[in-house]
Amino acid sequence: MKFSLMFKSRMRMKRFRLLPSYVVFFLILFVGVGAAQSSRDALVQPEKLMDAIGVMPGMVIGEGGAGEGYFTFKLARRVGPTGRIYANDIVERVLKVIERRSEREGFTNITTILGEVDDPLFPKGELDMIFMIAAFHDFEKPVEWLKNVQPCLKPGGTLVIVERDPDKMSSGRSHFLTKKEILDLAKRSGFTLDRIETFLSMHNIYIFKLDGL
Ligand SMILES: C[S@@+](CC[C@H](N)C(=O)[O-])C[C@H]1O[C@@H](n2cnc3c(N)ncnc32)[C@H](O)[C@@H]1O
Repeated sequence: MKFSLMFKSRMRMKRFRLLPSYVVFFLILFVGVGAAQSSRDALVQPEKLMDAIGVMPGMVIGEGGAGEGYFTFKLARRVGPTGRIYANDIVERVLKVIERRSEREGFTNITTILGEVDDPLFPKGELDMIFMIAAFHDFEKPVEWLKNVQPCLKPGGTLVIVERDPDKMSSGRSHFLTKKEILDLAKRSGFTLDRIETFLSMHNIYIFKLDGL
């Protein structure tokens, strides 16, 4: 019994070794990326998050600091073919990652925009929402950035900032913005707090409207 089990597992190992090394490399890479994505999903609960901020089919959303598109594709799936996601970053390489995945997976509703440090260069008057996750704390000129996006929002549009809350962390707190700092930066830029959703274990979701709208 023991011998047949050992034999079977050796045969499986041999078959694995017969795979070209580049195939093994990509298998390991895909498993690793998949595991990282699902542990992030457990933390930020994308579907519940999008329900809470009101992401709906047909919406046009500008995502600031989209990186390699962790949330971009979730937004694009939710807004569907009648909506659009403008995925902004200041690093061209990460936008190329989004473009390649869009093409591979057949997304036709994502446009990447290489922005400037103080301006994402979103199209004017088109956006129902400006969305950022895990990005705002990295911005060098947050107030200028928030002022420059204002003409891009449609009347009644929202600004959503998803950020780690230092009060919910035991280490690495200094890298992130406190609730007070985020509220202060938004206020100085001309945004009014609508509400803060606090149901995530490590993040807060800040939802703002433009002053006077
Ligand atoms: C920690 S990564 C998060 C990326 C993505 N949002 C995610 O959750 O995976 C922060 C991103 O913000 C980008 N970034 C930093 N400053 C920026 C700015 N001023 N405008 C746009 N993107 C910026 C960085 O290049 C980086 O891709």
